[in-house]
Amino acid sequence: MQRAVRKMGEKHMKILITAGPTREKIDPVRFISNYSSGKMGYALAEVASKKGHEVTLVSGSVAIAPPKSVKIVQVESAADMAREVRRFAKSADLIIMAAAVADYTPAKFAKDKIKKKDEVLSIKLKKTEDILSNLGKNRKKGRILVGFAAETSDLVRNAELKLEKKNLDWIVANEVGKKDRGFSSDNNAATLISRDGKRIRFPLQSKMSLAGKILSLVCEPIVG
Ligand code: CTP
Repeated sequence: MQRAVRKMGEKHMKILITAGPTREKIDPVRFISNYSSGKMGYALAEVASKKGHEVTLVSGSVAIAPPKSVKIVQVESAADMAREVRRFAKSADLIIMAAAVADYTPAKFAKDKIKKKDEVLSIKLKKTEDILSNLGKNRKKGRILVGFAAETSDLVRNAELKLEKKNLDWIVANEVGKKDRGFSSDNNAATLISRDGKRIRFPLQSKMSLAGKILSLVCEPIVG
């Protein structure tokens, strides 16, 4: 396996990475979730740790083993993820939110299993906390914030809007909903967009290779 090394000028960093889906409980046996596999976030954590950075990985439920030398914090819901991110964000120099956080969660948790009665069943949902937006609102000097934009259309435009709205340094525009890339695949293509308008297009490649390229850019010292 290739050994990742830090580039000249890349300082040792405390890096917080989130990965995988969240699960929002409906009742004791059911939940709402999404197709995120966690592979992109885990690849970022593995490469960052091989570069010698101190990595904390806050992860939703995934089927892959955590990389060695990474502190792993398992979470279930968006609320759990928000709490753990807040806890570890305090000391982080770089935060990469690769997790597919649920935007909505059931308004009420049914403590008994919901029985099959009605032909049509509606479940009321309420918004979850936007973890990344809150980090963007309370920015700490020198801390780098990176988001992922999971999009099925208008990839770059939508990602740019998110970068601005969430007050980020970088956003990875990530096409989801296709078989050969995104959520469950081992491969991904992406465009990395910076706050100051840089757009770097990465063609389809392994998530490990893409993780290395993203990290080399976002770990660069911020000038000014
Ligand atoms: N995110 C977050 N908290 C949420 C939802 C999303 O921190 N409750 C983060 C994701 O981890 C990702 C970024 O925000 O880094 C963008 O997530 P995405 O799902 O692409 O966009 P949303 O903000 O949820 O907007 P929409 O679903 O309308 O595209």
